[in-house]
Amino acid sequence: MDRIRVVGGNPLNGIIPISGAKNAALPLMIASLLTSDTLTLENVPHLADVEQLMRILGNHGVDVSVNGRRERQSDAYSRTIHFTCRTIVDTLAPYELVSKMRASFWVIGPLLAREGQARVSLPGGCAIGTRPVDLFIEGLEALGASMDIDGGYINATAPKGGLVGAHYTFPKVSVGATHVMMMAATLARGTTVIGNAAREPEVVDLANCLIAMGAKIEGAGTATITIEGVTTLSGARHRVLPDRIETGTYAMAVAAAGGDVVLEGTDAGLLETALDAIRNSGAEITVTPTGLRVVRKPGPIHPVDIVTEPFPGFPTDLQAQFMALMTRADGVSHVKETIFENRFMHVQELARLGAKITLSGQSATIEGVPRLRGAPVMATDLRASVSLVIAGLAAEGETVVSRVYHLDRGFERLEEKLTRCGAVVERITD
Ligand code: EPZ
Repeated sequence: MDRIRVVGGNPLNGIIPISGAKNAALPLMIASLLTSDTLTLENVPHLADVEQLMRILGNHGVDVSVNGRRERQSDAYSRTIHFTCRTIVDTLAPYELVSKMRASFWVIGPLLAREGQARVSLPGGCAIGTRPVDLFIEGLEALGASMDIDGGYINATAPKGGLVGAHYTFPKVSVGATHVMMMAATLARGTTVIGNAAREPEVVDLANCLIAMGAKIEGAGTATITIEGVTTLSGARHRVLPDRIETGTYAMAVAAAGGDVVLEGTDAGLLETALDAIRNSGAEITVTPTGLRVVRKPGPIHPVDIVTEPFPGFPTDLQAQFMALMTRADGVSHVKETIFENRFMHVQELARLGAKITLSGQSATIEGVPRLRGAPVMATDLRASVSLVIAGLAAEGETVVSRVYHLDRGFERLEEKLTRCGAVVERITD
């Protein structure tokens, strides 16, 4: 199993290209199930999760071709991929495929909308909390589907004549359930109004793509999304938005290790709250014509408190990375995780490098230390693993992160991007 070796102590200087967002690409790919025409997505990141979803979509009858060729390119950063689902050949999404990645469960929305039925395994994914599916069930039931759980699978059946538009307010904000309900409602009869919808940029990106496919959607990016059902959707060409989590991760890496880096091809508007926190910690962040420039100012890292919240709040997907930065702060900071109940697995690994963190329920208190020392550590989930790389960059000596398959799920060419900026980071393949 691959490991990543980081030798800390080198500031980062240079340019890091920001990839297309994994969490936008996944639902966009799933939207290809809604039409028999070709959906072309540009700027799709080359990641393990994207490859896995291609396999899952292939199972349902989606023909995938990368840049016009059937085989996948291995050398491009982000790719243009064509998805064509002339007919859905199977409405079953089996456990073996869905258990590896939670987002693959989202095929339930398009399958139900287009075929009137779906049998989808309950999902897997990063072990960061219980992550139930009650909101998906309630939302699709509101559209008239009957849903029942049997043998680890959800059987979903639309009423005769298809799904029917409805008003439904989620009791809790869910990105995935918003994606699914929005996709399902595009082909429902009548009007759907989703209340307490997720406002994440990835929801807006999906809505924009669906609109390009002929869907009638208003309000994406606000808490109320209105969808007027249409009978069919067509193909479209859409560019995946930049990855705000990758952007924030590298900005935090610069704030922790020092240096001056331009994050190219990104958009500050996607992560204002996180950028403010990084600025307050002592980095200068300016918007450039092509993205962002992050410069770590001389002097200590300042302690900053954060609370994770749905967008536009501080993203839970940057919590671990920010905690890694705070381990080196000149003082005490607090991190409160409100989205997932078990997203502090990085704490015990950061402690191996000398971090001083105490946990109390959903809150962590971080007492900054003057130095971290490299150590062998284990990645536990996607964002936790990259927090260990950030800590390793800011530590003295060598850190070896094992189980890096987690990293490969969500960070495109991490070693290469960091090495080009002067970091000592290499992949060890046993
Ligand atoms: C998306 O997951 C992201 N994944 C996650 O990123 C991200 O952490 C999360 O949104 C929150 O921003 C993708 O976009 C592929 P939720 P999702 O439904 O949609 C609870 C990463 O590292 N909930 O918004 O699965 C749930 O347990 C990943 O890239 C229910 O209670 O998250 C959680 O506490 C990790 N019932 C909260 O809602 C439900 O039916 C928010 O989850 C659904 C969710």
